[in-house]
Amino acid sequence: MKLAPSILSADFSDLLTDVKRIEEGGADIIHVDVMDGHFVPNISFGAVVMKSLNGKTKLTYDVHLMIENPEKYIKDFVTDQTEYITVHTEVLNGSTEALEMIRNYGIKVGLSINPETDIKELMPYIDLCDLILVMSVHPGFGGQKFIPEVMEKVTFLDNYRKENGKNFEIEIDGGINMDNVKYVCDMGCDMVVAGSAVFGKPDIVEATKAFKNI
Ligand code: DX5
Ligand code: ZN
Repeated sequence: MKLAPSILSADFSDLLTDVKRIEEGGADIIHVDVMDGHFVPNISFGAVVMKSLNGKTKLTYDVHLMIENPEKYIKDFVTDQTEYITVHTEVLNGSTEALEMIRNYGIKVGLSINPETDIKELMPYIDLCDLILVMSVHPGFGGQKFIPEVMEKVTFLDNYRKENGKNFEIEIDGGINMDNVKYVCDMGCDMVVAGSAVFGKPDIVEATKAFKNI
């Protein structure tokens, strides 16, 4: 399992220190939650904050764009450390432009889906994707409760890739903690986002290690 702690729950006044803690604990990648106040009812931070970490951590970036018109902003998130850029199914409106842009920058292509969106909406794009990010909370805020019904999507996607010889990864995001992480991995998730369950703990290094030991 790859662990992607979300810096949305980190201490922004001392971000690098928190990032060093997850690095020490064995995190695999930094989850970067970008919110525009339009697609989701909250504003988080933009590319300058992410880029402040460039060259200062060995970890790569897993960028989660919860924004409208992602094709306007993808370029800003392209760095030597950017491994994935994920956009939302709900903003594509039938266009593959954003997904193709990410691919053309040589970055792994991610596509996310909200809890209330039918998986059928995502399927037309699946062959363009390296990663499917299943939202297990309504995007916009950290620290929400896991919505178990979204696991139907994980099961569907896991079966789909096995039956069709596909090798996209499945990531889950929202409300993941020590009580449900084993379950979601057993169900087929390859990558797990955790915000408050890592950065909200008094000992971030130990919280990261505990996830990785699952
Ligand atoms: C929600 C974000 C998540 C979230 C994770 O909009 O995409 O990455 O911050 O935080 P926790 O793990 O606290 O639910
Ligand atoms: Zn996220």
